[in-house]
This record gives sequence, C-alpha cells and structure tokens, in this order.
Amino acid sequence: MTSYSIEPSGGPFGAVVRGLELPQDLEPSTVADLRQAWLRHQLLVFCDQELDFAGLEAVASAFGEIGEDPYFRPIAGERHVVALTREADETSPIFADVFHSDWSFLARPPSGTLLYAFDVPPVGGDTLFADQYGAWEALPAGLRRRIDGLVGVHSARRGYAPSGAYGDRDVGRSMAIVSSDDAYATERHPLVRPHPETGRPALFVSLAYTIGIEGMDEADANALFGELYPYTVAEHLVHRHRWEPGMVALWDNRCLLHAATGGYEGHRRELHRLTIA
Ligand code: SIN
Repeated sequence: MTSYSIEPSGGPFGAVVRGLELPQDLEPSTVADLRQAWLRHQLLVFCDQELDFAGLEAVASAFGEIGEDPYFRPIAGERHVVALTREADETSPIFADVFHSDWSFLARPPSGTLLYAFDVPPVGGDTLFADQYGAWEALPAGLRRRIDGLVGVHSARRGYAPSGAYGDRDVGRSMAIVSSDDAYATERHPLVRPHPETGRPALFVSLAYTIGIEGMDEADANALFGELYPYTVAEHLVHRHRWEPGMVALWDNRCLLHAATGGYEGHRRELHRLTIA
C-alpha cells in the first residue's frame, strides 16, 4: 500500500495530500480514507499530479458519479471534462469571480467539484473558498431564528441566461459557455441545510445563484441577503488557494462557497474541471 500524508493546509479548513499518484493509487481503502478527510477538511488538494482527461474522470469516479454540467461545452472529444480557460490577451471579465456553490440552481446540485491545474499563471488566478458551516455558526441568534425554515430560490439566470453575464453581451471569451433560456428556471433549497453526510448545518445561499426567498417579496429578500452575505464571506472563513501546476483540488459544494480571482493579465490560465453528482 502506498504511503501518503494528509496535512491541514494551515487555513481555516482544507488539507494537502502528498505521496499519492492519481488515479493509480486510489485503492478502495485509500478512497475511503480520503473521503473521510474530505468530509472533515472540506477541501483536499493533491500536489504534483499529471492527469489526462481519462485520469481526471477516473479520480472523479472514485468519489462518486460524474455530475451534470449545464452551460459548458466540454473539451472537444470529451463527454464531461470542461476547460476553464483565459488567454493571455483576453479582456472579458474573469469567469466565476462571484462566490457560489456550483450549480446550486439544479434540483440535485453537485456534492463536489474537481479542478486540475493545467496551465497556471505566475501571478494571480487564485481560487477563494469560504466555509459555510462557519458562516452559520457565526450568525447572531436573531438572524438564525429569522432564516430558520426559509427556502431560497436559485437560478442560473444572472450568469447563463442570454441576458446574463455570460450571455449575448459576453464577447471574446475563450471558454466554451453556452447560454440558454433554460437558465431562467428556478429550484428551491433551504437557506440552511444539514450536510447530508456530516449532519452539520451550513448556509446554502450565494449572490451568484440565489435570486429570492420563497414567499417573500423581492425588497425584503434582498434586504435579508444584504444582512447574510457578509457572514458567508467573512475574512476568518476564507481560504485563498494558490495554484501550482499539477495540483488537483477537490471541494465540497455542500459546505463551501468559492470564487475565482484575476490579477494575471498578460498570462494564460487553464484548469480542467469535473463535478461529482
Ligand atoms: C469555478 O469553478 O467556479 C472557477 C474557479 C476558478 O477558476 O478558480
């Protein structure tokens, strides 16, 4: 059996896994161990990997069924793997720089996301993660009571509808995003959800995808979001992940928000992504 280490990253959450070669070393007992670590640390980062598309799929499949990825065209010849690209001379706004939980507008949003660093700029391009267990724990009792039982309305429309940020007006983007009227659809999820595996309550709300609250008028819902959002991204809950070539990050969408950052103008960035159902 391969010997490997899982060490806390030193941030508010997250752990770094060293000594494993993915996907070859993913024996069932190793996967079970990694899965426990993933639930405990919320974000696992594997260093020094060399993964082709099949390899990335094999890693994702070890942790669950591969998820649905609407609004992205996969890499040519691939069924699932998506490239998050930005060319060195690209001027379109940074993709996904608003905190979100991946595809929370689906009826069954993905439990996890895998991102593999294929081409990393020398500066910038970090990914921020924010702990939503911690956000719930930090809420004052009064605010907890007010959101208890409330249900958020999620939609992809702000990003992926023709009128959205990645819709008709989004020109010159290298990523293969396909906007659609489907993005106007809505799904409902409680604002606070017990994590299905750990049982811990976590906030499940984001500026990117939560567009309202069931049974509440828009002005009141927006006022409540205005109170909640600072808790979801409070500094003590945010971990800045700096990419190195060959890194793989596996995060838990049920208890983390994440956001891309810029700061690498003039440099290329490409990450390969898969979601886990
Ligand atoms: C995302 O998956 O939301 C993008 C993250 C990133 O590009 O850093």
